[in-house]
Amino acid sequence: MEKKKLTIGLFGFGCVGFGLYEVLQRTPALKANIKRICVKDKNKDRQLPSEHFTYDKNGLLDDDEINTIVELIDDADAAYEIVKSALKKRKAVVTANKKMVAEHFDELQELQSTYNVPLLYEAACCASIPIIRNLEEYYDNDLLESIEGIVNGSTNYILTKTADENFTYADALADAQSKGYAESNPILDTGGFDAKYKLLILIAHAFGIVAKPEDIYNIGINKLDELELNYAREKGLKIKLVAYAEKTNEGTIKTFVLPKFVNKTDKLFSVDDVFNGVKTKSFFSDTQFFVGKGAGAYPTASAVLSDISALSYNYRYEYKKLNNKETLAQDDSIFLKVFLRHDITSGIELKQKFEEIDESYLNQKTGFIIGIISLKCLKEIEENYENTSFVLFETVDSKLFLKLYKNKKEYAIDN
Ligand SMILES: NC(=O)c1ccc[n+]([C@@H]2O[C@H](COP(=O)([O-])OP(=O)(O)OC[C@H]3O[C@@H](n4cnc5c(N)ncnc54)[C@H](OP(=O)(O)O)[C@@H]3O)[C@@H](O)[C@H]2O)c1
Repeated sequence: MEKKKLTIGLFGFGCVGFGLYEVLQRTPALKANIKRICVKDKNKDRQLPSEHFTYDKNGLLDDDEINTIVELIDDADAAYEIVKSALKKRKAVVTANKKMVAEHFDELQELQSTYNVPLLYEAACCASIPIIRNLEEYYDNDLLESIEGIVNGSTNYILTKTADENFTYADALADAQSKGYAESNPILDTGGFDAKYKLLILIAHAFGIVAKPEDIYNIGINKLDELELNYAREKGLKIKLVAYAEKTNEGTIKTFVLPKFVNKTDKLFSVDDVFNGVKTKSFFSDTQFFVGKGAGAYPTASAVLSDISALSYNYRYEYKKLNNKETLAQDDSIFLKVFLRHDITSGIELKQKFEEIDESYLNQKTGFIIGIISLKCLKEIEENYENTSFVLFETVDSKLFLKLYKNKKEYAIDN
């Protein structure tokens, strides 16, 4: 198949935009050239002469010679306006903006279909890991059972520092900020929101679920404290922030973002620093594992480049799985084995919320409970009790758990 010639209008010339410019210089075989670049700040020094730049988005959107828009700006709302206009003008679009794609998934999919034009966003999830196209093309939905990943590089860097160098959470965050891995206001990353945006995109391509950010529960790493960090160190575990989605026996999808203890046998255990890793589990092939750099100019630009290359062969996402009409599992049907840290006054009350308790501990300042609890109760605790923090051990098969639990209760009553 002959490659289509792509004339690109590039939005953004920051970390990824400049990375893409350099990467394209080194891949002349790809018939893609950047005609013009739209940026925001008129006073900034640029690495290229000024004739390459415009500050007016319509300078690119109204240019008929430009058939491809590559959107690499750091403002999700402005990005949405740009991408919407480009698709309406039947220009193919590549973007790396997970927040924008996650928040407007439905509308963006509709625009692609109405104007018969592709939008690709591989770089929006785990940068250099080609996970979206694999979920879209390789995995048959009936066979895919779960997807679990470390999808945020800055939180993984912070957690690696706490695990490998015994940093406190505050010191690890400050270190990540000093190295440019975390923003001065890091809550999007540390609160698990960035991971949630990526999870929203992943579940659309993995299971055909289109959900809104408010539909998925996220707890980040920002409330972690020494008790759980020490627990992990003592037991030879690491805490990782995981984005998780699993098909249940009832055919629904349970999904969330939570910090999780992982042990040495887990593939995610050795995904450290700013690396990302994604495990897929399917019925016949069992577990597969993708790992790679989840951020940075060249790793991210490589995914953008791959999308540009795919456009030159007229590739587009088909969103076949959206017809499956899968639904999200209800919070009260999701059971999790967790470590809950709490203050000394609330331990007795919080124990009542657990279905089953394996272990509990109390010192003069704080305590923890390890046991099985529903996601519904977990949310209630997080909303109503200060000084609490959760770390997941594992998800529990709800049907099996309820059956065993019921049998146990009946046995206890009979005896
Ligand atoms: N950095 C990474 O490792 C990474 C990884 C995966 C995905 N991403 C995604 O890639 C995108 C770009 O990130 P980045 O790290 O390259 O950001 P960045 O370094 O902060 O650069 C942002 C660029 O966007 C431009 N810009 C902002 N608002 C604009 C507007 N309204 N119109 C035109 N240009 C505008 C800025 O212009 P000025 O130069 O004039 O300020 C700047 O060139 C984001 O969506 C990010 O989430 C980044």
